[in-house]
Amino acid sequence: MKLLVTGGAGFIGSNFIRYWLEKYPKDKITNLDKLTYAGRLETTEDFSKNKNYTFIKGDIGDLKTTLKATEGIEVVVNFAAESHNDRAIQDPGIFVRTNVLGTQILLEAAKRQNVKRFHHISTCEVFGELELNEKRAFKEEDPFRPRTPYNASKAAADHVVMAYYHTFGSPVTISHCSNNYGPYQFPEKIIPRFITNLIDNQKIPLYKSSQNRREWIYVDDHNEAVDIVIRKGKVGEMYSIGTGVEKSVEDIADSLLKIFGKPKSYKKYVPDRAGHDKRYLLSTKKIRSELGWKAKYEFDAYLEKTVEWYKENEWWWRPLKKEAEALYAKTGQK
Ligand code: NAD
Ligand code: TYD
Repeated sequence: MKLLVTGGAGFIGSNFIRYWLEKYPKDKITNLDKLTYAGRLETTEDFSKNKNYTFIKGDIGDLKTTLKATEGIEVVVNFAAESHNDRAIQDPGIFVRTNVLGTQILLEAAKRQNVKRFHHISTCEVFGELELNEKRAFKEEDPFRPRTPYNASKAAADHVVMAYYHTFGSPVTISHCSNNYGPYQFPEKIIPRFITNLIDNQKIPLYKSSQNRREWIYVDDHNEAVDIVIRKGKVGEMYSIGTGVEKSVEDIADSLLKIFGKPKSYKKYVPDRAGHDKRYLLSTKKIRSELGWKAKYEFDAYLEKTVEWYKENEWWWRPLKKEAEALYAKTGQK
């Protein structure tokens, strides 16, 4: 099979390529990535010499580039995106350009090149937020109610993907996943930010609404689910990928402090995020019953493995830490 992975120099996309090349060593993968602040060639170093791997530096929002990148491709997996809520508050425009307009251009190229499957990576955040005490979880058929510029751009992109399906018959699938953690995550997101602070013996900054919580999934669980959706999923369908494992900001802080053997005085409270969503939780009934997938990596064990990875790979994250903290110096959440 010949795949085009976009955003493969970022966190989840690079782990997807790593996973795929190992599981399907005969398949060929092209990675199209713009190399924004979040996309790094260092992140792809371990597989960059694989003979079945090709890298193209380029923008999914450029039709000439995407037409060339999709030539002879059977499956497109679109991970490319601006992905961080705190950045979207500073500069919403780039989120609309890449996540919405970029996705449309990529869909257009895939349509003209007769690509057999366009799998779009989306997020639980399109459904909006749940109350902390609410008993339900988001289902695939729930309406989109995004509340932040990042979420809105992802929801808009999903609508464009579905429009290509209904209008042009494009063979699309979409997956909505909960919060990921694991190796190669940019140290601006909560788990790698807290880990790298603790390695440096710095306090960890909790946003004021620290009871807000997320559903956490190890990145390889997400990528295995995407693999199954690509191979077994029905065209025109959306699938939710989650674990049911909910952790508040306080829980994440406490777990990491325990792993590092540090006292609670390492927590500090900083101003809240504007439009801070309280909670997301996905029902995974559909992917479990229709495609037979379920998450297998246990949170505490894989959080520890992630800590180990950051301890052993300072070469990777240390140059990025400055960029991440510069953002929070601007927002006053340092
Ligand atoms: P990331 O920010 O680590 O990586 C994004 C990658 O996309 C980078 O390599 C970047 O250079 C590239 N990119 C950005 N704009 C581009 C453009 N115009 N053209 C080509 N490449 C471009 O993000 P991530 O955390 O790996 O997220 C990947 C996808 O998964 C995103 O679509 C995100 O919305 C989705 N998602 C992420 C999570 C999570 O917890 N991280 C959860 C659910 C869904
Ligand atoms: P984040 O990792 O940015 O993911 P998302 O906004 O996509 O869910 O944030 C996860 C949670 O952690 C969210 O409730 C905000 C909170 N948070 C902090 O308390 N401190 C931090 O330094 C960061 C980055 C996030």
